[in-house]
Amino acid sequence: MREQPNPADLLEWYDRHARIMPWRIGPADRANGDVSDPYRVWLSEIMLQQTTVAAVREYFLRFTERWPDVRALASAKDEDVMAQWAGLGYYARARNLLKCARAVVTDHDGQFPDTEEALLTLPGIGPYTAAAVASIAFDQQATVVDGNVERVMARLYDVHTPLPTAKKELTDLAAILTPPKRPGDYAQAVMDLGATICTPRNPACGICPWRTPCQARLAGTAAELPKKLPKKKKPVRFGTAYVARRVDGALLLERRPDKGLLGGMLGWPGSEWAEDDTPPHDAPIRAEWKTLNTEARHTFTHFHLRLKVQTALVPMDRHPKTGEFITADQFAADDLPSVMRKVFALIP
Ligand code: ADE
Repeated sequence: MREQPNPADLLEWYDRHARIMPWRIGPADRANGDVSDPYRVWLSEIMLQQTTVAAVREYFLRFTERWPDVRALASAKDEDVMAQWAGLGYYARARNLLKCARAVVTDHDGQFPDTEEALLTLPGIGPYTAAAVASIAFDQQATVVDGNVERVMARLYDVHTPLPTAKKELTDLAAILTPPKRPGDYAQAVMDLGATICTPRNPACGICPWRTPCQARLAGTAAELPKKLPKKKKPVRFGTAYVARRVDGALLLERRPDKGLLGGMLGWPGSEWAEDDTPPHDAPIRAEWKTLNTEARHTFTHFHLRLKVQTALVPMDRHPKTGEFITADQFAADDLPSVMRKVFALIP
């Protein structure tokens, strides 16, 4: 029989090569007596969904400096949290983050529950986050499956079924391999392996702690796994954004409704984003509008967006039909989501 992958080999590799992350209690920290803080584990895992470790680092440090524990976050103002999240994308995560912090304080006396099942009942916590928090913060034998883990399993067991069909098969394989000892370190070790050695392109099989039992390495198929069903081409949507500057420098902004794309975020007033070239729109304030000759372009998960940008200078006594003026000293482009920052960057 072929050699089976041994979790202990991976843990031994992790003890030597764990990446250092501000939210992580690594093997060296643990030797110093540090213990996991469920709040920091939870916050980092929400931020890391759909987002790279490099992008998350600064956000995590700023969040935890401003709101060091779940009670502090639960009593934050919604708009302050949305502003701190701006630029990370997938803004439903930020709205649910606040809901979850408040539920932990109100319903759980400020303590995160320690089982996957109880974690799953909280807002914004799905199977991935429940397993990640249960294992990393509470050392429960839960199986964490993200894109890295799927890739590692597909290669270890030479699974050729394409994703997303293969999801269940790969999750089952990951569950069988999850050890009862050090499950939190193990979960992070598989993710680190996927991020640094078992990479999508040019995997470094020669230095992999699981090179001997890896069936794809044996078959020579590692680099082509996991297989993926072809992605649909993204459609293009069009719209117009209006940037009105008052003579004192104040800017006209509008908070977007909680539901929908960029929900709860500040942005420039504008048209709907539609698939026809010029969706109808009304300017948010009476003014002499000029259209810029460059567009703002941004890609969301399901479409590419091309925004025409109109600008105007308006007198002090003019009242907007929608939105409100934010004074120059209150305005920070960093509080806006990326697409709205791109619009602002085009303004002469
Ligand atoms: N990706 C998401 N969470 C992670 C973690 N805890 N360690 C490494 N990579 C991750």
